[in-house]
Amino acid sequence: MTPARGEGEHPPGRGEGARPPGPSTRAVHAGLPPESQGQAFLPGPTFAAPFHLAGDPDGSSHVYGRYGNPTWSAYERALGELEGGEAVLFGSGMAAASAVLLPILFPGDVLVMPSDAYMGLRGLVDSHIAPRGVEVRALTTAGGVLERACLDGAALEGASLVWLETPTNPGLDVIDVAAVSDAAHARGALVAVDDTLATPLQQRPLELGADYSVTSDTKAMTGHADLVLGHVATRDPARAQTLREWRALSGAIPGPFEAWLAHRSLATLALRLASQQENALALASALSKRPEVSGVRYPGLRDDPAHRLAARQMEGFGTVLTFTLPDRATAERFLAELRIVAEATSFGGVHSTAERRGRWGGDDVPEGLIRFSAGCEGPDDLLADVLGALEGASG
Ligand SMILES: Cc1ncc(COP(=O)(O)O)c(C=O)c1O
Repeated sequence: MTPARGEGEHPPGRGEGARPPGPSTRAVHAGLPPESQGQAFLPGPTFAAPFHLAGDPDGSSHVYGRYGNPTWSAYERALGELEGGEAVLFGSGMAAASAVLLPILFPGDVLVMPSDAYMGLRGLVDSHIAPRGVEVRALTTAGGVLERACLDGAALEGASLVWLETPTNPGLDVIDVAAVSDAAHARGALVAVDDTLATPLQQRPLELGADYSVTSDTKAMTGHADLVLGHVATRDPARAQTLREWRALSGAIPGPFEAWLAHRSLATLALRLASQQENALALASALSKRPEVSGVRYPGLRDDPAHRLAARQMEGFGTVLTFTLPDRATAERFLAELRIVAEATSFGGVHSTAERRGRWGGDDVPEGLIRFSAGCEGPDDLLADVLGALEGASG
């Protein structure tokens, strides 16, 4: 890593027993090329379909735009540094998830997964994985059901892959990645973790023992509501190669401009997360005290069922909270009353957003459940907006 400017002659990371760089330093410098006189800190995107290639293919790193691109490679280097593995970039989080699942699951294999995982993932499994003869064991994460069934081995008999999502979307349950990985590996199963709600700055699945860390970079990783991307990280070079081959053959590639925007946005990831989770905690605490609000979930709340494990496994609690209003009509009025907070799906961005999750019909949630993504607005402004909208919705 290039030393941070202004850190003097002994920047972190240099010398015996040097202090490892903190999250902000890692995010600011991740994947940047070595300093070079007159060159940009982060070179601009390379837009190319074919690259010059005379004669037979000679192993040149860039040949054709579906096989590789220097702008992808720079962001992948950054992601690899943050994940502690080798990262492969895809055109979306779902493309990244598909690249893990489809090349390794065949008829007769067994997939263990949360029945309350992100609904797009469940849709992919229901439409394209179960019908090809893969046995799917889907168990709820609520009350630790999936985790217990893995730890006592009941769910793992003959399993090929355990797919975890932690924290879950929208349930915000947290699963013990290290314990489940140990149990799965002891029975010969691989483990993949959807790390989207945490990001690799707040939770590193590969260090916890997982074989794949999968993230939708559409959300907090990039945070500006302006692009769709995803990535997978792994420590196994053969698995990384399979992922790259799958990307080239399926064509699930990212655009160079999106990759460059993502790399540029990475520098502020730690700052954004710090501000967003401060807002998320303030909102969750305030909402917990309101009589018309029930079921507030945020892993950062001390009395949340996920708090203890999240505090041990994560370096932060994420940007998303959920809470339940008495019914659908109250939830819709609440959303309509919000002035600063936008009604929109997705999460993790600098703009606070909220939605009535039941509107999609794909999650087993109460009609009045609101999934709220805390942005970077001033905490007082945000609280005033949310509490004002609650008043308006009840009045
Ligand atoms: C937990 C989780 N994983 C994966 C995805 C898919 O990401 P993308 O929309 O970038 O394909 C989402 C999208 O909402 C998600 O919430």
